[in-house]
Amino acid sequence: MKVTVFGIGYVGLVQAAVLAEVGHDVVCVDVDQNKVDNLEKGIIPIYEPGLTPLVTSNFEQGRVKFTTDAEKGVTHGEVVFIAVGTPPDEDGSADLKYVQAVAKTIATHMQKHKIIINKSTVPVGTADKVIATVSETLKELNKDLTFDVVSNPEFLKEGAAVNDCMRPDRIILGTESEFAEKKLRELYSPFNRNHDKIIVMDVRSAELTKYAANCMLATKISFMNEMSNLAELMGADIENVRKGIGSDPRIGYQFIYPGCGYGGSCFPKDVQALVRSANGVGYKAKILESVEAVNYRQKEKLFDYLMDFYKGDLKGNTIALWGLSFKPNTDDMREASSRVLMEKLWEQGAKVQAFDPEAMEETQRIYGNRSDLSLMGTKEATLNNADCLVICTEWQAFRAPDFELIKSSIKDPVVFDGRNLFEPSLMSEYGLHYYAIGRALSVKAH
Ligand code: UDX
Repeated sequence: MKVTVFGIGYVGLVQAAVLAEVGHDVVCVDVDQNKVDNLEKGIIPIYEPGLTPLVTSNFEQGRVKFTTDAEKGVTHGEVVFIAVGTPPDEDGSADLKYVQAVAKTIATHMQKHKIIINKSTVPVGTADKVIATVSETLKELNKDLTFDVVSNPEFLKEGAAVNDCMRPDRIILGTESEFAEKKLRELYSPFNRNHDKIIVMDVRSAELTKYAANCMLATKISFMNEMSNLAELMGADIENVRKGIGSDPRIGYQFIYPGCGYGGSCFPKDVQALVRSANGVGYKAKILESVEAVNYRQKEKLFDYLMDFYKGDLKGNTIALWGLSFKPNTDDMREASSRVLMEKLWEQGAKVQAFDPEAMEETQRIYGNRSDLSLMGTKEATLNNADCLVICTEWQAFRAPDFELIKSSIKDPVVFDGRNLFEPSLMSEYGLHYYAIGRALSVKAH
Protein backbone atom coordinates (compact mmCIF):
# COMPACT_ATOMS: atom_id res chain seq x y z
CA MET A 1 0.00 0.00 0.00
CA LYS A 2 1.21 3.54 -0.71
CA VAL A 3 1.70 5.37 2.57
CA THR A 4 2.85 8.90 3.42
CA VAL A 5 4.04 9.99 6.84
CA PHE A 6 4.23 13.67 7.74
CA GLY A 7 6.72 14.35 10.53
CA ILE A 8 9.97 12.40 10.90
CA GLY A 9 10.06 12.44 14.69
CA TYR A 10 10.01 9.47 17.01
CA VAL A 11 6.56 8.25 16.13
CA GLY A 12 6.70 9.07 12.42
CA LEU A 13 10.10 7.56 11.73
CA VAL A 14 9.53 4.33 13.64
CA GLN A 15 6.08 3.86 12.11
CA ALA A 16 7.41 4.55 8.61
CA ALA A 17 10.32 2.12 8.99
CA VAL A 18 8.12 -0.64 10.36
CA LEU A 19 5.50 -0.19 7.62
CA ALA A 20 8.26 -0.29 4.98
CA GLU A 21 9.74 -3.40 6.57
CA VAL A 22 6.52 -5.37 5.98
CA GLY A 23 6.44 -4.24 2.36
CA HIS A 24 4.46 -1.00 2.19
CA ASP A 25 5.72 1.79 -0.07
CA VAL A 26 6.41 4.71 2.28
CA VAL A 27 7.29 8.36 1.71
CA CYS A 28 8.25 10.48 4.74
CA VAL A 29 7.86 14.25 4.60
CA ASP A 30 9.50 16.71 6.95
CA VAL A 31 10.15 20.46 6.79
CA ASP A 32 13.74 19.94 8.00
CA GLN A 33 16.00 19.55 4.92
CA ASN A 34 18.96 18.71 7.12
CA LYS A 35 17.08 15.80 8.70
CA VAL A 36 16.11 14.50 5.25
CA ASP A 37 19.70 14.77 3.95
CA ASN A 38 21.02 12.97 7.01
CA LEU A 39 18.48 10.17 6.77
CA GLU A 40 19.45 9.62 3.15
CA LYS A 41 23.04 9.20 4.35
CA GLY A 42 21.93 6.74 7.02
CA ILE A 43 22.23 9.23 9.89
CA ILE A 44 19.25 8.70 12.20
CA PRO A 45 18.17 11.71 14.30
CA ILE A 46 17.34 9.70 17.44
CA TYR A 47 18.95 6.89 19.40
CA GLU A 48 16.61 3.91 19.37
CA PRO A 49 17.74 0.28 19.48
CA GLY A 50 17.31 -1.46 16.11
CA LEU A 51 16.12 1.63 14.26
CA THR A 52 19.25 2.48 12.26
CA PRO A 53 19.54 -0.87 10.43
CA LEU A 54 15.77 -0.94 9.87
CA VAL A 55 15.72 2.53 8.31
CA THR A 56 18.88 2.11 6.23
CA SER A 57 17.99 -1.31 4.83
CA ASN A 58 14.49 -0.17 3.84
CA PHE A 59 15.90 3.03 2.36
CA GLU A 60 18.47 1.09 0.33
CA GLN A 61 15.75 -1.22 -0.98
CA GLY A 62 13.63 1.79 -1.97
CA ARG A 63 10.71 1.01 0.35
CA VAL A 64 11.08 4.22 2.33
CA LYS A 65 11.97 7.63 0.93
CA PHE A 66 12.54 10.98 2.61
CA THR A 67 11.60 14.35 1.21
CA THR A 68 10.68 17.94 2.08
CA ASP A 69 8.37 18.03 -0.95
CA ALA A 70 4.89 18.05 0.59
CA GLU A 71 3.12 17.87 -2.77
CA LYS A 72 5.04 14.73 -3.70
CA GLY A 73 4.18 13.27 -0.30
CA VAL A 74 0.45 13.99 -0.55
CA THR A 75 0.24 12.66 -4.10
CA HIS A 76 1.99 9.43 -3.11
CA GLY A 77 -0.08 8.06 -0.25
CA GLU A 78 -3.61 6.76 -0.26
CA VAL A 79 -3.11 6.73 3.48
CA VAL A 80 -1.49 9.86 4.95
CA PHE A 81 -0.26 9.87 8.54
CA ILE A 82 0.05 13.04 10.58
CA ALA A 83 2.85 12.34 13.05
CA VAL A 84 4.09 15.83 13.82
CA GLY A 85 4.74 17.19 17.30
CA THR A 86 2.10 18.57 19.65
CA PRO A 87 4.27 20.56 22.07
CA PRO A 88 2.67 21.92 25.22
CA ASP A 89 1.32 25.47 25.00
CA GLU A 90 2.22 27.95 27.70
CA ASP A 91 -0.73 26.68 29.76
CA GLY A 92 0.13 22.99 29.22
CA SER A 93 -2.51 22.22 26.60
CA ALA A 94 -1.34 20.56 23.38
CA ASP A 95 -0.48 23.01 20.62
CA LEU A 96 -2.08 21.85 17.38
CA LYS A 97 -0.47 24.30 14.99
CA TYR A 98 1.73 21.68 13.30
CA VAL A 99 -1.13 19.18 13.00
CA GLN A 100 -3.36 21.85 11.47
CA ALA A 101 -0.60 23.00 9.11
CA VAL A 102 -0.23 19.44 7.79
CA ALA A 103 -4.02 19.12 7.44
CA LYS A 104 -4.00 22.26 5.30
CA THR A 105 -1.08 21.00 3.24
CA ILE A 106 -2.84 17.70 2.56
CA ALA A 107 -6.00 19.50 1.42
CA THR A 108 -3.97 21.87 -0.75
CA HIS A 109 -2.24 19.12 -2.72
CA MET A 110 -4.71 16.23 -2.73
CA GLN A 111 -6.26 15.33 -6.07
CA LYS A 112 -8.26 12.29 -4.97
CA HIS A 113 -9.64 10.63 -1.82
CA LYS A 114 -7.21 10.40 1.10
CA ILE A 115 -7.39 8.61 4.43
CA ILE A 116 -5.81 11.01 6.90
CA ILE A 117 -4.60 9.38 10.09
CA ASN A 118 -3.87 11.27 13.29
CA LYS A 119 -0.96 9.41 14.83
CA SER A 120 0.21 12.26 17.08
CA THR A 121 -1.19 12.36 20.60
CA VAL A 122 -3.90 14.97 20.21
CA PRO A 123 -6.70 16.22 22.45
CA VAL A 124 -10.20 14.87 22.06
CA GLY A 125 -11.88 16.79 19.28
CA THR A 126 -8.78 17.20 17.12
CA ALA A 127 -10.09 14.92 14.38
CA ASP A 128 -13.07 17.26 14.08
CA LYS A 129 -10.71 20.21 13.78
CA VAL A 130 -8.69 18.42 11.10
CA ILE A 131 -11.93 17.64 9.23
CA ALA A 132 -12.89 21.34 9.42
CA THR A 133 -9.48 22.52 8.18
CA VAL A 134 -9.39 20.06 5.28
CA SER A 135 -13.00 20.85 4.29
CA GLU A 136 -12.45 24.62 4.42
CA THR A 137 -9.24 24.43 2.41
CA LEU A 138 -10.85 22.17 -0.22
CA LYS A 139 -13.75 24.60 -0.45
CA GLU A 140 -11.44 27.63 -0.85
CA LEU A 141 -9.67 25.80 -3.67
CA ASN A 142 -12.95 24.71 -5.28
CA LYS A 143 -11.97 21.05 -5.02
CA ASP A 144 -14.83 18.58 -4.75
CA LEU A 145 -13.05 15.69 -3.04
CA THR A 146 -13.89 13.27 -0.23
CA PHE A 147 -11.60 12.20 2.60
CA ASP A 148 -11.60 10.31 5.92
CA VAL A 149 -9.95 11.32 9.16
CA VAL A 150 -9.04 8.49 11.53
CA SER A 151 -7.59 8.59 15.03
CA ASN A 152 -4.95 5.88 15.35
CA PRO A 153 -2.87 6.67 18.44
CA GLU A 154 0.60 5.25 18.94
CA PHE A 155 1.59 3.44 22.15
CA LEU A 156 5.31 2.91 21.58
CA LYS A 157 7.83 3.21 24.39
CA GLU A 158 11.15 4.92 23.80
CA GLY A 159 13.95 2.38 23.95
CA ALA A 160 11.58 -0.37 22.76
CA ALA A 161 9.90 1.55 19.96
CA VAL A 162 10.70 -0.79 17.07
CA ASN A 163 9.52 -3.85 18.94
CA ASP A 164 6.39 -2.08 20.22
CA CYS A 165 5.52 -1.04 16.68
CA MET A 166 6.27 -4.47 15.20
CA ARG A 167 4.34 -6.28 17.92
CA PRO A 168 1.66 -3.90 19.16
CA ASP A 169 -0.57 -4.86 22.12
CA ARG A 170 -3.48 -3.24 20.32
CA ILE A 171 -4.21 -1.17 17.25
CA ILE A 172 -6.84 1.44 17.98
CA LEU A 173 -8.83 2.70 15.01
CA GLY A 174 -11.10 5.62 15.71
CA THR A 175 -13.37 5.83 12.71
CA GLU A 176 -16.95 5.33 11.68
CA SER A 177 -16.05 4.99 7.99
CA GLU A 178 -16.30 1.42 6.70
CA PHE A 179 -13.99 2.27 3.83
CA ALA A 180 -11.26 3.64 6.14
CA GLU A 181 -11.61 0.68 8.49
CA LYS A 182 -11.23 -1.80 5.64
CA LYS A 183 -8.15 -0.03 4.27
CA LEU A 184 -6.50 0.24 7.67
CA ARG A 185 -7.19 -3.39 8.48
CA GLU A 186 -5.32 -4.17 5.26
CA LEU A 187 -2.49 -1.77 6.15
CA TYR A 188 -2.02 -3.31 9.58
CA SER A 189 -2.71 -6.95 8.67
CA PRO A 190 1.00 -7.91 8.91
CA PHE A 191 0.92 -6.79 12.57
CA ASN A 192 -2.40 -8.41 13.33
CA ARG A 193 -1.46 -12.06 13.27
CA ASN A 194 -2.38 -14.75 15.84
CA HIS A 195 -5.25 -12.83 17.38
CA ASP A 196 -7.17 -9.70 16.41
CA LYS A 197 -5.49 -6.70 17.98
CA ILE A 198 -7.58 -4.16 16.14
CA ILE A 199 -10.12 -2.31 18.25
CA VAL A 200 -12.45 -0.08 16.27
CA MET A 201 -14.30 2.71 18.03
CA ASP A 202 -15.60 6.23 17.52
CA VAL A 203 -12.97 8.85 16.93
CA ARG A 204 -13.32 10.73 20.23
CA SER A 205 -12.98 7.55 22.28
CA ALA A 206 -9.82 6.67 20.34
CA GLU A 207 -8.37 10.10 21.08
CA LEU A 208 -9.19 9.78 24.78
CA THR A 209 -7.87 6.19 24.92
CA LYS A 210 -4.33 7.44 24.32
CA TYR A 211 -4.51 9.99 27.13
CA ALA A 212 -6.25 7.57 29.45
CA ALA A 213 -3.52 4.96 28.92
CA ASN A 214 -0.66 7.35 29.62
CA CYS A 215 -2.44 9.00 32.54
CA MET A 216 -3.22 5.61 34.10
CA LEU A 217 0.44 4.61 33.88
CA ALA A 218 1.58 7.96 35.28
CA THR A 219 -0.97 7.54 38.08
CA LYS A 220 0.49 4.15 39.01
CA ILE A 221 3.94 5.69 39.29
CA SER A 222 2.87 8.72 41.31
CA PHE A 223 0.78 6.50 43.55
CA MET A 224 3.83 4.35 44.28
CA ASN A 225 5.98 7.39 44.83
CA GLU A 226 3.44 8.66 47.33
CA MET A 227 3.52 5.27 49.07
CA SER A 228 7.31 5.38 49.08
CA ASN A 229 7.26 8.71 50.89
CA LEU A 230 4.84 7.28 53.43
CA ALA A 231 6.97 4.13 53.80
CA GLU A 232 9.96 6.28 54.57
CA LEU A 233 8.13 8.30 57.20
CA MET A 234 6.44 5.27 58.74
CA GLY A 235 9.52 3.06 58.93
CA ALA A 236 8.54 0.62 56.17
CA ASP A 237 10.36 -0.55 53.05
CA ILE A 238 8.60 0.25 49.76
CA GLU A 239 10.37 -2.63 47.99
CA ASN A 240 8.59 -5.09 50.27
CA VAL A 241 5.33 -3.22 49.81
CA ARG A 242 5.82 -3.28 46.03
CA LYS A 243 6.24 -7.05 46.00
CA GLY A 244 3.35 -7.41 48.40
CA ILE A 245 0.86 -5.50 46.30
CA GLY A 246 2.15 -6.52 42.85
CA SER A 247 1.34 -10.16 43.57
CA ASP A 248 -2.35 -9.25 43.37
CA PRO A 249 -3.09 -9.74 39.66
CA ARG A 250 -5.58 -6.87 39.79
CA ILE A 251 -2.64 -4.59 40.61
CA GLY A 252 0.24 -6.35 38.84
CA TYR A 253 3.98 -5.80 38.99
CA GLN A 254 4.31 -3.46 36.05
CA PHE A 255 4.75 0.27 36.46
CA ILE A 256 4.82 0.24 40.23
CA TYR A 257 8.51 1.03 40.58
CA PRO A 258 9.07 3.97 42.88
CA GLY A 259 11.81 6.36 41.84
CA CYS A 260 12.90 9.95 41.37
CA GLY A 261 9.90 10.73 39.17
CA TYR A 262 8.73 10.04 35.64
CA GLY A 263 9.94 12.07 32.68
CA GLY A 264 10.00 11.81 28.91
CA SER A 265 8.05 13.31 26.10
CA CYS A 266 4.72 11.72 26.98
CA PHE A 267 3.68 11.37 30.60
CA PRO A 268 4.35 14.92 31.84
CA LYS A 269 2.92 16.48 28.69
CA ASP A 270 -0.11 14.21 28.43
CA VAL A 271 -1.11 14.48 32.09
CA GLN A 272 -0.92 18.28 31.86
CA ALA A 273 -2.81 18.33 28.57
CA LEU A 274 -5.66 16.21 29.93
CA VAL A 275 -5.90 18.42 33.02
CA ARG A 276 -6.26 21.42 30.68
CA SER A 277 -8.76 19.64 28.44
CA ALA A 278 -10.76 18.68 31.51
CA ASN A 279 -10.82 22.34 32.61
CA GLY A 280 -12.01 23.17 29.12
CA VAL A 281 -15.13 21.03 29.61
CA GLY A 282 -15.69 22.41 33.09
CA TYR A 283 -14.25 19.47 35.04
CA LYS A 284 -11.53 19.60 37.67
CA ALA A 285 -9.41 16.47 37.17
CA LYS A 286 -8.27 16.14 40.79
CA ILE A 287 -6.51 12.79 40.45
CA LEU A 288 -4.50 13.97 37.46
CA GLU A 289 -3.57 17.24 39.14
CA SER A 290 -2.22 15.24 42.06
CA VAL A 291 -0.36 12.83 39.77
CA GLU A 292 1.44 15.82 38.32
CA ALA A 293 2.09 17.48 41.69
CA VAL A 294 3.42 14.28 43.28
CA ASN A 295 5.75 13.75 40.34
CA TYR A 296 7.06 17.29 40.52
CA ARG A 297 7.85 16.83 44.20
CA GLN A 298 9.43 13.43 43.54
CA LYS A 299 11.90 14.91 41.08
CA GLU A 300 13.27 16.97 43.98
CA LYS A 301 13.67 13.91 46.18
CA LEU A 302 17.36 13.22 45.49
CA PHE A 303 18.18 16.86 46.05
CA ASP A 304 16.33 16.73 49.38
CA TYR A 305 18.38 13.68 50.40
CA LEU A 306 21.60 15.48 49.49
CA MET A 307 20.56 18.53 51.47
CA ASP A 308 19.73 16.25 54.38
CA PHE A 309 23.09 14.49 54.30
CA TYR A 310 25.11 17.67 53.78
CA LYS A 311 23.02 19.61 56.32
CA GLY A 312 21.84 22.18 53.80
CA ASP A 313 25.28 23.15 52.52
CA LEU A 314 26.28 21.86 49.10
CA LYS A 315 28.43 24.82 48.11
CA GLY A 316 31.71 23.70 46.56
CA ASN A 317 30.72 20.01 46.59
CA THR A 318 31.35 17.85 43.55
CA ILE A 319 28.60 15.36 42.82
CA ALA A 320 29.23 12.28 40.66
CA LEU A 321 26.06 11.64 38.66
CA TRP A 322 25.25 8.41 36.83
CA GLY A 323 22.42 8.60 34.32
CA LEU A 324 21.09 11.68 32.54
CA SER A 325 18.41 10.38 30.17
CA PHE A 326 14.83 10.19 31.49
CA LYS A 327 15.03 6.39 31.35
CA PRO A 328 17.50 3.76 30.05
CA ASN A 329 18.05 2.92 26.37
CA THR A 330 17.39 6.41 25.12
CA ASP A 331 19.31 9.66 24.78
CA ASP A 332 16.13 11.61 25.46
CA MET A 333 16.51 14.22 28.19
CA ARG A 334 13.02 15.68 27.98
CA GLU A 335 11.63 16.22 31.50
CA ALA A 336 14.43 14.04 32.89
CA SER A 337 14.76 13.96 36.67
CA SER A 338 18.51 14.51 36.26
CA ARG A 339 17.81 18.01 34.96
CA VAL A 340 15.84 19.04 38.04
CA LEU A 341 18.60 17.66 40.24
CA MET A 342 21.48 19.29 38.36
CA GLU A 343 19.76 22.66 38.18
CA LYS A 344 19.06 22.62 41.91
CA LEU A 345 22.64 21.56 42.68
CA TRP A 346 24.02 24.39 40.56
CA GLU A 347 21.77 26.86 42.37
CA GLN A 348 23.46 25.73 45.59
CA GLY A 349 26.95 26.20 44.15
CA ALA A 350 27.71 22.48 43.71
CA LYS A 351 29.49 20.96 40.70
CA VAL A 352 28.34 17.92 38.73
CA GLN A 353 30.55 15.27 37.09
CA ALA A 354 28.19 13.20 34.97
CA PHE A 355 28.17 10.11 32.80
CA ASP A 356 25.42 8.58 30.68
CA PRO A 357 25.84 5.77 28.13
CA GLU A 358 23.89 7.70 25.44
CA ALA A 359 22.76 11.13 26.56
CA MET A 360 26.09 12.99 26.80
CA GLU A 361 25.74 14.84 23.51
CA GLU A 362 22.18 15.79 24.31
CA THR A 363 23.25 17.10 27.73
CA GLN A 364 25.99 19.13 26.06
CA ARG A 365 23.46 20.49 23.57
CA ILE A 366 21.07 21.53 26.34
CA TYR A 367 23.52 23.01 28.84
CA GLY A 368 26.50 23.96 26.66
CA ASN A 369 29.85 24.50 28.32
CA ARG A 370 29.59 25.46 31.95
CA SER A 371 32.23 25.31 34.63
CA ASP A 372 29.94 23.47 37.07
CA LEU A 373 29.23 20.57 34.67
CA SER A 374 31.87 18.06 33.54
CA LEU A 375 30.81 15.29 31.20
CA MET A 376 33.09 12.33 31.86
CA GLY A 377 34.04 9.48 29.51
CA THR A 378 33.18 6.63 31.89
CA LYS A 379 31.12 6.06 34.99
CA GLU A 380 34.33 5.45 36.95
CA ALA A 381 35.81 8.80 35.86
CA THR A 382 32.88 10.66 37.45
CA LEU A 383 34.04 9.40 40.85
CA ASN A 384 37.44 11.10 40.78
CA ASN A 385 37.52 13.87 43.38
CA ALA A 386 33.74 13.64 43.84
CA ASP A 387 32.18 13.96 47.27
CA CYS A 388 29.39 11.45 46.68
CA LEU A 389 27.55 9.45 44.01
CA VAL A 390 23.99 9.98 42.75
CA ILE A 391 22.12 7.67 40.35
CA CYS A 392 19.24 9.07 38.30
CA THR A 393 18.70 6.46 35.56
CA GLU A 394 18.66 2.67 35.83
CA TRP A 395 20.96 1.82 32.90
CA GLN A 396 22.03 -1.86 32.98
CA ALA A 397 25.65 -0.71 33.15
CA PHE A 398 25.02 0.76 36.62
CA ARG A 399 23.47 -2.33 38.18
CA ALA A 400 26.62 -4.18 39.26
CA PRO A 401 29.29 -1.54 39.81
CA ASP A 402 32.61 -2.00 41.60
CA PHE A 403 31.52 -0.94 45.08
CA GLU A 404 35.09 -1.06 46.43
CA LEU A 405 36.12 1.42 43.77
CA ILE A 406 33.16 3.66 44.56
CA LYS A 407 34.02 3.59 48.26
CA SER A 408 37.69 4.35 47.70
CA SER A 409 37.07 7.06 45.08
CA ILE A 410 34.40 9.30 46.58
CA LYS A 411 35.26 11.48 49.60
CA ASP A 412 32.12 10.70 51.59
CA PRO A 413 31.03 7.06 51.40
CA VAL A 414 27.45 7.80 50.39
CA VAL A 415 25.31 6.80 47.41
CA PHE A 416 21.96 8.47 46.59
CA ASP A 417 19.98 6.11 44.38
CA GLY A 418 16.89 7.43 42.59
CA ARG A 419 16.05 4.03 41.08
CA ASN A 420 16.53 1.57 43.96
CA LEU A 421 19.14 -0.52 42.19
CA PHE A 422 20.84 -2.09 45.22
CA GLU A 423 20.06 -3.87 48.45
CA PRO A 424 20.65 -1.62 51.47
CA SER A 425 22.25 -4.54 53.37
CA LEU A 426 24.82 -5.05 50.58
CA MET A 427 25.66 -1.36 50.60
CA SER A 428 26.31 -1.38 54.31
CA GLU A 429 28.55 -4.44 53.91
CA TYR A 430 30.66 -2.30 51.59
CA GLY A 431 30.62 0.49 54.16
CA LEU A 432 28.53 2.76 51.98
CA HIS A 433 25.70 4.93 53.31
CA TYR A 434 22.77 4.42 51.02
CA TYR A 435 19.80 6.66 50.37
CA ALA A 436 17.21 4.85 48.28
CA ILE A 437 13.62 5.83 47.54
CA GLY A 438 11.12 4.78 50.19
CA ARG A 439 13.42 2.44 52.05
CA ALA A 440 13.14 3.71 55.59
CA LEU A 441 15.90 1.52 56.97
CA SER A 442 18.47 2.81 54.54
CA VAL A 443 17.46 6.42 54.89
CA LYS A 444 17.18 6.24 58.67
CA ALA A 445 20.70 4.83 59.04
CA HIS A 446 22.27 8.28 58.88
C1 UDX B 1 5.27 6.15 27.57
C2 UDX B 1 4.26 4.97 27.50
O1 UDX B 1 4.79 3.85 28.19
C3 UDX B 1 3.96 4.65 26.05
O2 UDX B 1 2.97 3.62 25.99
C4 UDX B 1 3.43 5.90 25.37
O3 UDX B 1 3.16 5.66 24.02
C5 UDX B 1 4.44 7.04 25.50
O4 UDX B 1 4.74 7.26 26.88
P1 UDX B 1 7.91 6.44 27.35
O5 UDX B 1 7.70 7.91 27.57
O6 UDX B 1 8.83 6.01 26.26
O7 UDX B 1 6.51 5.73 27.01
O8 UDX B 1 8.45 5.86 28.72
P2 UDX B 1 8.11 4.75 29.80
O9 UDX B 1 8.96 3.55 29.62
O10 UDX B 1 6.66 4.51 29.87
O11 UDX B 1 8.62 5.48 31.15
C6 UDX B 1 8.18 6.78 31.50
C7 UDX B 1 8.80 7.25 32.78
O12 UDX B 1 8.24 6.58 33.90
C8 UDX B 1 10.31 7.08 32.91
O13 UDX B 1 10.87 8.27 33.43
C9 UDX B 1 10.46 5.92 33.89
O14 UDX B 1 11.67 6.00 34.61
C10 UDX B 1 9.27 6.15 34.77
N1 UDX B 1 8.81 4.93 35.47
C11 UDX B 1 8.29 3.89 34.75
C12 UDX B 1 8.84 4.86 36.85
O15 UDX B 1 9.29 5.79 37.53
N2 UDX B 1 8.34 3.73 37.48
C13 UDX B 1 7.82 2.69 36.80
O16 UDX B 1 7.38 1.73 37.44
C14 UDX B 1 7.80 2.76 35.39
